[in-house]
Amino acid sequence: MTVTTNKPAQAGAVAKASKTDVKVPGEAIQVPLPNRREFLFYCWGASLALFAAASGGAIIWFMLPRFKEGEFGGIFRESSIPDRGTSPLNNATGKYWLSHAEDGLVALYKVCTHLGCLYAWVENSFRFECPCHGSKYELNGLWIEGPAPRSLDRFSMTVKLTSGAELVTNATGDPIPGIDPSQVAEVVVDTGSRIKRAGRV
Ligand code: FES
Repeated sequence: MTVTTNKPAQAGAVAKASKTDVKVPGEAIQVPLPNRREFLFYCWGASLALFAAASGGAIIWFMLPRFKEGEFGGIFRESSIPDRGTSPLNNATGKYWLSHAEDGLVALYKVCTHLGCLYAWVENSFRFECPCHGSKYELNGLWIEGPAPRSLDRFSMTVKLTSGAELVTNATGDPIPGIDPSQVAEVVVDTGSRIKRAGRV
């Protein structure tokens, strides 16, 4: 009777596996490097992803409202305007004076055009006066005297009348003439749209 056994074969297999799988401490692991074509492909993909992210961010940024209504930089709404030739209406949050002079209605930015001080309305002299270096401006924002290089800056606005008509500030920020205060439904002042005068005019 012949007895066969596979013990030597198993031992050999174990010995073979041990020889290939066991890592010797300190032995460097070989990581295959990308070839030139793969490397360029990865660079191109990364550039494309960066461009897409930047474009998406820019679109979202442009679509979001920058300023809320009622906060400086955004829209302000007035339900009434001063009578022609009377003291201006002060909007402290919007940083403007709503002035109704003989030549029309205008929203004047509260910052002096010389070096940026806050000028004030002076009832006694019936004009705007800057406390810093003495520049003075008329009710409609025109320069009178002092070192200011130009008349007061103004904001673009839309006057909505009860008739449904709308009057809009022109590109040079001239006062909107001929407004009857009793016919005004709403005035929308855009403090995000400042118009600088060309000079002392
Ligand atoms: S800052 Fe107003 S006059 Fe100088």
